[in-house]
Amino acid sequence: MPHNCIGIYPGSFDPITNGHLDLVERGIRLVDRLIIAILSNDQKEALFSVDERMAMVREVVADMPNVEVASFHGLLVDFAAQQKATVIIRGIRAVSDYEYELQMALMNRRLRPEIETVFLMAGEAHSFTSSRLVKEVIRFGGNISGLVPRPVEVRLRRRLLGEP
Ligand code: PNS
Repeated sequence: MPHNCIGIYPGSFDPITNGHLDLVERGIRLVDRLIIAILSNDQKEALFSVDERMAMVREVVADMPNVEVASFHGLLVDFAAQQKATVIIRGIRAVSDYEYELQMALMNRRLRPEIETVFLMAGEAHSFTSSRLVKEVIRFGGNISGLVPRPVEVRLRRRLLGEP
């Protein structure tokens, strides 16, 4: 990676999971600064507001140097360019992620060829973790410990189970 390389790790992060955190830890080894960028285009029905998601991410990456949190709307590559980032980091779990990720990476490359998408594999312990499934499991009373950071689990329980 080039000197003073800035990377963007984009996503919905509704909410951030331990799989995402694993990617952040891997990503920051490759770039000098990593910006976790939360999409705020509102077509998708989200459980947490962008502000709530930012607060959760900030809390769980607070002790990671050179990791920042931001939100963006519009095109990811435009936000990346505005931040002077040259690398987009995305995680791939199973083959099923590949097609969608390839489409996005190639579209983003067409829009801004100077920005490279880099795919990282999360640790196998996270290969089935997704924000969507975590929400579904907790909603129906399943155990999600170890799948999300503790402060996120507390907020999920409050929001979905009405716990104090
Ligand atoms: O975590 P997600 O929901 O899979 O993240 C998807 C995300 C935010 C990376 C993607 O939807 C995105 O980049 N949206 C911004 C709009 C954009 O740039 N669309 C064109 C992508 S080819």
